[in-house]
Amino acid sequence: MRINQYLAHAGFASRRKAEELVKSGQVRVNGQKMTDLSYQVQNGDQVTVNGQAAVNEEKVYFLLNKPRGYISSVSDEKGRQTVLDLLAGVPERIYPVGRLDWDTSGLLLLTNDGDFANLMMHPSHHIDKTYVAKVEGYANKENLRPLSLGMKIDGQKISPARYKIIRTDKQKNASIVELTIHEGHNHQVKKMFEKVGLPVQKLSRIAFGSLTLDGVSAGKYRQLSAKELRELRHSAV
Ligand code: URA
Repeated sequence: MRINQYLAHAGFASRRKAEELVKSGQVRVNGQKMTDLSYQVQNGDQVTVNGQAAVNEEKVYFLLNKPRGYISSVSDEKGRQTVLDLLAGVPERIYPVGRLDWDTSGLLLLTNDGDFANLMMHPSHHIDKTYVAKVEGYANKENLRPLSLGMKIDGQKISPARYKIIRTDKQKNASIVELTIHEGHNHQVKKMFEKVGLPVQKLSRIAFGSLTLDGVSAGKYRQLSAKELRELRHSAV
């Protein structure tokens, strides 16, 4: 692959901008300044731009079953555990697709493919995400109705969601409710339940598009298959 194409793939610049980087002497291959635009990058070449490694990674996609107590970020200034600690064996520079709260468990995708991450996160793409919430209070059709009508949260309109009452326990004054939404606003599910007077005590995401946690126990992960990726991309319409 030509040097400018390699830099573009590594996410450094557009191909044209990458040419400028090469011509202006900001690129080194194996420590040597490389200003020859016709140079073909070889396997094992170490390419740097102003001292920063340009690694042309293969795109990878993972499904993680996130336990509670991990933040959905690549690093944390307070030194808390991040989801990347659970994928320590993955050499690629992956990051989470959207986020789950520190105290939310369940299905989280991670990738190094920015286009794919954007596609999955954009609310207009209508990818369903299903959560199971343990809430305080007695859930019924009346108090849950606003969830399925659409509501305003922090001044923003939220699309109608689908819900299913799984269980109610009058004695413990608690209920289990499944909720499917396609947006991903900050703390959206917690805020939706809060608004109908049923504060969330425990939250887990059990599905993302057609993906579920089947066969992946808490703290474990697996790669997505080509078929699953195709289906996800297809459902992002
Ligand atoms: N909604 C929330 O409130 N929290 C999450 O972690 C995900 C969705």
